[in-house]
Amino acid sequence: MKKPSLIPLSRPSISNADIAAVSAVLRSGWLTMGPVAAEFENKLSQSVGRRPVLAVSSGTAALHLALTLAGVGKNDEVITTPMTFAATANVILMTGARPIFADIDPETWNIDPAKIEQAITERTKVIMPVHFAGRPCDMEKINSIAARHKLKVIEDAAQAFGASYQGKSIGSGENFVCFSFHPMKEITTIEGGALVLPGADLLPLAKRIRFHGIEKDAWKTFKGVQTDIPYDVSVLGYKYNMSDVSAALGLSQLKRERSFFKKRGEIARAYIAALKSVEGITVPMKDSAQPPSSWNLFHILLDDGISRRDFMAALKQNGVASGIYYRALHQTTLYKNLLGDLDGKFPNAERFSGQATAIPIFPEMTENEIDTVVNAVKKALRRVKESCVSK
Ligand SMILES: Cc1ncc(COP(=O)(O)O)c(C=O)c1O
Repeated sequence: MKKPSLIPLSRPSISNADIAAVSAVLRSGWLTMGPVAAEFENKLSQSVGRRPVLAVSSGTAALHLALTLAGVGKNDEVITTPMTFAATANVILMTGARPIFADIDPETWNIDPAKIEQAITERTKVIMPVHFAGRPCDMEKINSIAARHKLKVIEDAAQAFGASYQGKSIGSGENFVCFSFHPMKEITTIEGGALVLPGADLLPLAKRIRFHGIEKDAWKTFKGVQTDIPYDVSVLGYKYNMSDVSAALGLSQLKRERSFFKKRGEIARAYIAALKSVEGITVPMKDSAQPPSSWNLFHILLDDGISRRDFMAALKQNGVASGIYYRALHQTTLYKNLLGDLDGKFPNAERFSGQATAIPIFPEMTENEIDTVVNAVKKALRRVKESCVSK
């Protein structure tokens, strides 16, 4: 018998126009970074208050590039949240620096500014807040802590493209800001990302580091023009450029970004309205006086004593996928080995890590699917509570 299909956690929206845009580049004779990537950067820049933007090969690349440009290296410390995807802290390790975790706020699930302040030492160089699930961090407090201690801020906005803070889109402030365009994100380039720079003065070096330390003009030799210029490799760089094929998809997706944003918000508000009074769970942003989230993920936090495993299994039986986003990083093997046993040090992150589950949210969800998810959550919760009582 064919298994009934699950409503997935996420599904990219790919239109005929997206496919046509990608096909046009595939037929053009030039596939990797070139004029389409430059146009994508220009459009991205317009969406973040005309700040300088580099299209890159992933959100991870954007974060690593930002840390490199911020001069982070051996013996430095970077403060971030343990409640994030592995990429956030892995890139810190890639520079030779040490990630220092600060606990999350139990209400917002974002890094707690007070805990950042407590974690600062003479080795701290950067604060790296993550706009978790697309919900903007308290940047006013974080920026003021950074200014007081002369630290740089790199915003991990992998999940927050399109979100805004104090009326301005995330990315239009003064910091390094890193976006991801992975297929689960607000818009996709398949794999890809973007780095917003604090100033245009950093652009030449950033471009060189993006492509093996080679100057941009000399790089054109690879396109068969200006072949008489010998290129130089002036600094250690990486292979972080975005292809024109990816950029074509990004440009086409950007045209629908506001409608994606609107739809994600509608789904989140439908979930909140239907689930906020249900006993045994907490849903995010119950009150409306919050900065607009891009709702990249929607989490349900189960009360202690309710088995997440059983709850997720019951959701699946009712046709709904769910997922663990994320495990608190200090409890994973790599970080335990590197940083020692930090169990119990970040209780809010640990509680979230143990009891939260993400449920489906993506722009093409139908009303029917939203209702199915809500009903499945209620049913699953009833089932798990009953089995707790009977045990
Ligand atoms: C918070 C966070 N940071 C960084 C990344 C890395 O982005 P990418 O997968 O594009 O490298 C992700 C991707 O899931 C993320 O969610």
